[in-house]
Amino acid sequence: MSGETVETIAGRCGVPVERGRTLAEFTSIGVGGPVDFVLRPTSIDAMTAVVPALRAAGFRPRIVGGGANLIAGQGPFHQPVILTRGIKHGPIVEGNRARAGSGLSVKKLVTQCVEKGLTGLEFAEGIPGTVGGTVFMNAGSYGGQMSDVVREVVLVDDTGRLVTRQVAPADFSYRRSPFTSADTIVEAVFELTPGDPNTMRETLRSIAERRLASQPPGERSAGCVFKNPKGDSAGRIVDVAGLKGLAVGGASVSTVHGNFIVNRGDATAADVLELIALVKRKVAESQGVALEEEVILWTGDPS
Ligand code: EPU
Repeated sequence: MSGETVETIAGRCGVPVERGRTLAEFTSIGVGGPVDFVLRPTSIDAMTAVVPALRAAGFRPRIVGGGANLIAGQGPFHQPVILTRGIKHGPIVEGNRARAGSGLSVKKLVTQCVEKGLTGLEFAEGIPGTVGGTVFMNAGSYGGQMSDVVREVVLVDDTGRLVTRQVAPADFSYRRSPFTSADTIVEAVFELTPGDPNTMRETLRSIAERRLASQPPGERSAGCVFKNPKGDSAGRIVDVAGLKGLAVGGASVSTVHGNFIVNRGDATAADVLELIALVKRKVAESQGVALEEEVILWTGDPS
């Protein structure tokens, strides 16, 4: 423990710090309580400096990408939160490979790869969030997942070193990557194939249409809340349990898709967490299925 404050460390590493923010501001569902310090590094060098310096001083920083699959509790959160959104370079295309900063939005990654004539990422059309977050979660939809295309990940490891790891599909599984909260992803490289931009644009249009018809459009959510049980769909199970529209305070199970919880405008973190517990209880009672969260839950500071 060096006795240095978060602000001193961040200042030394050239990282802007904000106070007086809430996690609700940095999550797509828009709930989550106050956080003492939010740090916004804008380069890999700054991230590589600040993460080990904070850890050496006894802090346990946590990383937020797009906050698209994160549900945070009421807090307050005393440990620093580091946003990756400022590390948003790319995609830099080298042959069939596209390199992107962890804070780049998946939307930009997908559209720019398509425009550059590289196919393989179209499945990710409409997945909210950032490159780092979706690699960390092995996000997927419409027959694809990040592990199909990600081949290299650059990260700050638990010893504070910047390391490059080659990865293969076998290193990942359903919504799981080989990375842990001790790893801070700063960049990823995707292996793609040359393709026809017109065909790819057509695929994007068709996926966007399917998503619009089956998932709540324009509402604040954290994506799918529960993992799909093997061979089934959590959304279908919640639906047949009759729970669409079930509400706690300002949080409600989507009336469009049973695996989404939407913030109707004034939801609190407690509403969302209570609704998740209620859905799990009712599904266990009526369907005999133990649903497991896909979203990351932060109910307090890391222990
Ligand atoms: N279904 C219902 N009622 C519902 C929801 C779904 O009957 O309320 C039925 C559908 O009609 C369909 C089946 O269940 O026959 C599967 O539904 P869907 O195609 O919507 O896919 P899903 O299994 O519910 C998964 C991913 C989504 C991804 C879609 C599209 C998970 C947990 N969910 O949902 O990913 O967008 O496939 O490929 O893996 C996410 O990870 O955040 C996410 C939303």
